[in-house]
Amino acid sequence: MSLYKPTNENLKLAGQFLKEGKLVAFPTETVYGLGGDLFNEESLAKIFEAKQRPDFDPLITHIAEKEMLYKLADIDRNKKLESIIERFWPGPLTLILPKKDKVPNLATSGLKTFAVRMPANDIALQIIRNSNGAVAAPSANPFGYLSPTNATHVEEQLSGKIDMIIDGGKCKMGVESTVLDMTKEKPIVLRPGAIEIEKLKKHIGDIDVYNRRTANPTAPGQLPSHYSPVTPLKIIKNGIESEDLSKNIGFLSFYGENYGIDYKEIEILSKNKNMIEAAANLFEKLHKLDNKKIDVIYVEEIPEKGLGIAIMDRLYKASKK
Ligand code: TXA
Ligand code: MG
Repeated sequence: MSLYKPTNENLKLAGQFLKEGKLVAFPTETVYGLGGDLFNEESLAKIFEAKQRPDFDPLITHIAEKEMLYKLADIDRNKKLESIIERFWPGPLTLILPKKDKVPNLATSGLKTFAVRMPANDIALQIIRNSNGAVAAPSANPFGYLSPTNATHVEEQLSGKIDMIIDGGKCKMGVESTVLDMTKEKPIVLRPGAIEIEKLKKHIGDIDVYNRRTANPTAPGQLPSHYSPVTPLKIIKNGIESEDLSKNIGFLSFYGENYGIDYKEIEILSKNKNMIEAAANLFEKLHKLDNKKIDVIYVEEIPEKGLGIAIMDRLYKASKK
C-alpha cells in the first residue's frame, strides 16, 4: 500500500473513508493511531481484527472539539475537569470518564467508562474534523508489538489490513499518552506516558500512580508483556549474561556509553542525555534493532524520572515474554 501525503485533499479523503467505515492510520504527537469511526461498530470490530487485539482491551476515542467530550461523557461540566482540559489538551493526556450510551460497548470492552483525548497534531485534528467527529484509535501496531512512530512502521506491520496510511513523518513525542482515570475520588495514573507525572501532580494536586511492580493489572495496557520486539529484549543489570556472550548482541544505549562490550549493533537514544529526544527515538531505535540480524537486544536502564518513567515502563514490558 502506498503512503498518502497529508494534503488537504487526502485529509478529506481520510475523513470520507472513516465515515464509510474504513480504517485509516494517522500520525499523532505520540505514536501512529489506527483509526475507525467511533459510532460504527463494524469499524470498531475491524480495528480489533487488524490488530489481532483481544476484545477485552478497550480503545481510546480521539476528538478535535471540546463539545464532543460532553456529547460522549456522562459528566457535568466542572471546574476541575475544565482546568485539566484547558492545561493539557490538545495533548498526550487520555482521560477515563463515565460514558454515555452513544459510546459503543465494543469501544470500551463493555466498561461503563471510556478513554478520550484530543491529540496535539494538526493532521490528526483535521482528519477527526473531516470524520464524524470521534475516532477510536489504538496504536497502529499488531497487539503486543512495538508501537509505530513513523508511517513505514505502520506499513510494515499492517499493510493489506487497513485502507489508508497518512504519512505525517516521525512522531514528535514517541511514547503513548499518559492515561489518567478520573472516575475515582483521587485520580489515578493507569499508564505513565508523554505527560510527566510530576507535571500532572503540579496541576491537579494529589494523584495516585498505578504501580506495575505491586498491583494486579486493571487496564490491559498494564499487562506485564507489551510493546515487545520479536528479538528477545533484556534490561542490562550486571553486564551481559553468560548464556548470551557468544550471541550476536544488539545494544540500545541511553547516551552512547558501551561499557567496553563488543556489540554487533548499537543504537543510541540521546547523545546529550535529553529525555525528550530519548523518548522520541525509543520505538524507532527498537524497530531498527529488531530488523537487524541479532539474537538478543540489551537495553540500558534510564533514570526513572520525568519521561524516564514512561520509557522504563515500555522497556520493562518489552522485556517480558
Ligand atoms: O498516545 C496514545 O494514547 C496512542 C495514540 C494513538 O493516541 N494510543 C494508544 O492506544 O496508545 P492503545 O489502544 O494502544 O492504548 C490504550 C490504553 C490501554 O492501556 C487501555 O487499556 C487503556 O488505554 N484504556 C482504554 N479505555 C480504558 C478504560 N475505560 N479504562 C481503563 N483503561 C482504558
Ligand atoms: Mg498500544
